[in-house]
Formats: sequence, structure tokens, C-alpha cells
Amino acid sequence: MSKQLANPGGQGGAEPDLDAIVAAGRAAIAGAGDLEALREVEQRHLARRSPLGEVQRALGALPPEGRRVIGQRVNQARAALQQALAAARAELEAARDAALLEAERIDVTLPGRVPPRGTVHPINRTIDEGVDIFLGLGYRVAEGPEVETDWYNFEALNFALYHPARSMQDSLAVQGTGPDGSPLVLRTHTSPVQVRTMLAGPPPVYVVIPGRCYRADTPDTTHIPVFNQIEVLAVDEGLTMGDLKGTMLAFARAYFGAEREIRLRPSYFPFTEPSAEVDVSCFVCGGRGCRTCHHQGWIELLGCGMVHPSVLRAGGYDPEKVSGFAAGTGMERPYMLRSGLEDLRTLTDNDLRWLASV
Ligand code: DAH
Repeated sequence: MSKQLANPGGQGGAEPDLDAIVAAGRAAIAGAGDLEALREVEQRHLARRSPLGEVQRALGALPPEGRRVIGQRVNQARAALQQALAAARAELEAARDAALLEAERIDVTLPGRVPPRGTVHPINRTIDEGVDIFLGLGYRVAEGPEVETDWYNFEALNFALYHPARSMQDSLAVQGTGPDGSPLVLRTHTSPVQVRTMLAGPPPVYVVIPGRCYRADTPDTTHIPVFNQIEVLAVDEGLTMGDLKGTMLAFARAYFGAEREIRLRPSYFPFTEPSAEVDVSCFVCGGRGCRTCHHQGWIELLGCGMVHPSVLRAGGYDPEKVSGFAAGTGMERPYMLRSGLEDLRTLTDNDLRWLASV
């Protein structure tokens, strides 16, 4: 420190050793290992209560000349320390950022984890396909509940309480009664939606009804207790068996191929009269006979018939004014036939290896 500045203005008291103050400050700054420590150093060496701050405060007591000279030196000292502080802060911040980046490092070259892609279940694809065929014919989709009342599932469809035809379908009962007061069952077929559709609005109706059905069957290669049906209902003025047959032929050809033929065999269902079973000419051998058609040339496809007058009446329609046809079938069998699947249970096993393969 320059001697001629010692005791400037002739005022008593030792000259403040600003060099020592700056040196101490620099040393402290250099020793700060992180930003927090640096803030403390700043507090200790530059704040009002720091040695430098004290010198500055004492300036007011100096005569003007000394105040100017020492003041300048204090400013220089402060500037030097602030510069050192800023440099240290920049360095510590850079180090902190680098550490953060390192800790949060993402290797963008790593291959992503591709989630396995699901697909529509084959039975749902088959149902969609069947429904689409009827949508193409101008039908609309109708649906109903899986927990159904005995009235809709049986009574309204002309199965009286002790009608032997009830044993054609072993139903699973559900505790309780429905809004109509009749016992609850898991619906055994989609036919109850025929009546629900009619009660919902006036004729004409052209609906296709997909849905899950339930029967008390022990699972084996050709039975599962939960299966899917597609039902068709058309009610209009003047519908005949010819309309039914034409519609069934259109469906069989759309689903099994344009060269298919169908034949109708007399059958029985309580809710249709007359009733028929539709066979389709074998899509494997074209009708000559093979394993798929058990050497018959024909494959049983579905049940159908003209809607029974009692069913029209249950739906609130006048059988003197309108007539209708209906058809229904499980979709598992057509799927098995077309895909060659041999065990129906495969469809509900949910074995991903099989599902990924079809
Ligand atoms: N509901 C019948 C069953 O599950 C299938 C059926 C047959 C539906 C003839 C119909 C029909 O609409 O006309 O076995």
C-alpha cells in the first residue's frame, strides 16, 4: 500500500489494510466448494458487517480528502472481490449444471421399448364381419342386456313356462327378478332383443343383433358356456319366406364365397313358424364332399324362420298387418369352419401365443 496515502487527511487511526482484506476475500472465494458456500463468503466479505463494509462505514468520519482517496480504494477492493466472486460463481454454476446434466443424462441412441400391439380378437373380427354384411344390406345394429328376464328370453318368444323347448337351452339363473317381475336369467340367445326392438318402435324394422350368450354347458371341443350370436330380424309389410331365403343366400355368399348355394331344411323353433335350418354348400370342396362337411357337401349354418304371430304380438305388432323373418346363429362355429380351428375352447383360453398367430 502506498505510504503517501497513509493516514490521509492527517486523521488519526491506522490505515485500513485493504490489500489484506482483498487477499482474505479472494482466499475465501477460492475455497468455496459450492454455490451455497460462495453465498456465505459473499456475506462474510462484502456485506455491511464485513471488514470491507466496516472500512466503508468508517469513511464518513474521514476528512473529505482522505475520504475520497480511501473511498476509491475501497471501491477498487470491492470491485476486485466482486469480480472474483462472479468468476467463481460462473465456474460453480457451470459445474453444477454439468453435474445435473450428467445425472439426468438420457441415452437417446438406446432403442425404445415398443409396447406389444394388441389386435381385435378373432371371434370379434368374425362378428364384425357378419354385422357388416347386414349393415351393407341396410340393417341397423340393435343390442340388449346379457342379464335378461325370463319373459324376454322365453315367454315372449313363445316358450311357455313348462314348454319342452326350454330344455333346448339350459339356462343359467340369476338371483332376483326383473322390472317385469319375471325371474332373471343370463340370456341363452340374442332372440330376446327381437322383442325389445319391436317394443321400442313401430315397423318396419331391419336389425342385426350381435351379443354374448350363456348356457349351462360343460366346456369341450364344441361347447363353451359363453358364446356369441348374431341375430337378424326383419319385420315389414308383406315379407315372405322368399325374402328370408334371399337374405340368407346373400349372407352365405358374402361370408363363405360368391359360389356358395344354400338349402333350407324344415326345423322347429318356438318363435318362428315355419322354421328352417340353413345349410351352405361346403366352401372347402364346393359340395363334392370332404372332411369339413363330413362328406355331406353341405354345412349347417343357422336357424331361421318366419316370426311367429305370438312373437309379433308380444312385440306390440299386428300379425294381420306385418310379417317378418328372423335368423340366428353362434359365430364361433362359422369361425371354426373357416379357420380350421378344432377346439372351441381355444377362443377363450387367451393364450397369447395363439392369439398372436391368428
Ligand atoms: N335363438 C336360436 C338359438 O339360439 C337361434 C335362432 C333360430 C334364432 C331361429 C332365430 C331363428 O332368430 O329364427 O338356438
